[in-house]
Amino acid sequence: MEEIIDIKEKIAELPNRGFLDISVDPTLDIFSEIERLKKEKNAVLLAHYYQEADIQDVADYIGDSLQLAQKAKETNADIILFAGVHFMAETAKILNPTKKVILPDFKAGCSLADSCPPEEFQKFKDKYPDYKVISYINCSAEIKALSDYICTSSNAEYIVKEIPEDTGIIFAPDRNLGAYLSKKLGREMVLWNGSCMVHEIFSLEKIMKLKEKHPNAKVIAHPECETAVLDVADFIGSTTGLLKFTQKDDAQEFIVATETGILYKMMQASPNKTFIPAPPNNSCACNDCPHMKLNTLEKIYTCLKYELPELTMDEELRLKAKIPIDRMLEISAKVGL
Ligand code: 13P
Ligand code: SF4
Repeated sequence: MEEIIDIKEKIAELPNRGFLDISVDPTLDIFSEIERLKKEKNAVLLAHYYQEADIQDVADYIGDSLQLAQKAKETNADIILFAGVHFMAETAKILNPTKKVILPDFKAGCSLADSCPPEEFQKFKDKYPDYKVISYINCSAEIKALSDYICTSSNAEYIVKEIPEDTGIIFAPDRNLGAYLSKKLGREMVLWNGSCMVHEIFSLEKIMKLKEKHPNAKVIAHPECETAVLDVADFIGSTTGLLKFTQKDDAQEFIVATETGILYKMMQASPNKTFIPAPPNNSCACNDCPHMKLNTLEKIYTCLKYELPELTMDEELRLKAKIPIDRMLEISAKVGL
């Protein structure tokens, strides 16, 4: 029997708590209940690769940031339930404003997005008046509204190449992705000093020791990692890029320098290969993103049942933020992404 709850009280707690704190009957078959609610409400569950395995199993679509934005734009569902972090749900709302966008926990943020407050970024931008601003999708709607182009890790190179050689570029908020692009494309860029708390924590020393123990293992890394880690990587790519590489490459062992959620998909896709999470520079499980991992199956269930928390957005802000995202989607379509 499900607990009798005072839903009004729980809704009143939402702004502080970030999610509907309603306990779920442990005897409930939560997987089939989520499936039932999705059908009943015509809802689509989009999940990022960094979500826990149970959430990936119940999702309608799993993808990287670009693929999830594309899915959010094209869906005919009435409700988009976004199992990811806040900026991803915001992007879905920007692209598909007539849909109800709900997310399991409003407090699922992102250290990269948090590292770039709009007022400070405006002042930074004012110092380079003729520069074009490319912002990584891991930023707030306010930062998107201050940008000329949005990019993700899978299309960033193509977006940079769109800017004429004689035009300066501000890249925000991820200094690691910016530095990687700058080096790879030979393009000077002014970098905002932000970073991802998960990707900055990998220990080069421990990765090198692991490589000694597993001489045939390939190191694969997300471009949010620091330069020192990227320099020893055999392959660098977005979450989808990394997943595809492990499927097509002959190596049987991979040291994976990104959030651990992606290992579930890698193991499913290549059950006979070995995947070793790159170790962090301390003893905690820091390569789990604390924001992504705020989402749970129970929160997904209550979110879908009560259609809360819902993400809403000021229309003027939405329209401004949509311009650079549309540019990104156009360029991505042009290059077949
Ligand atoms: P991608 O899925 O685009 O590779 O991004 C990873 C990430 O950090 C999402 O927060
Ligand atoms: Fe943000 Fe890093 Fe978590 Fe991705 S892994 S959501 S970039 S903090």
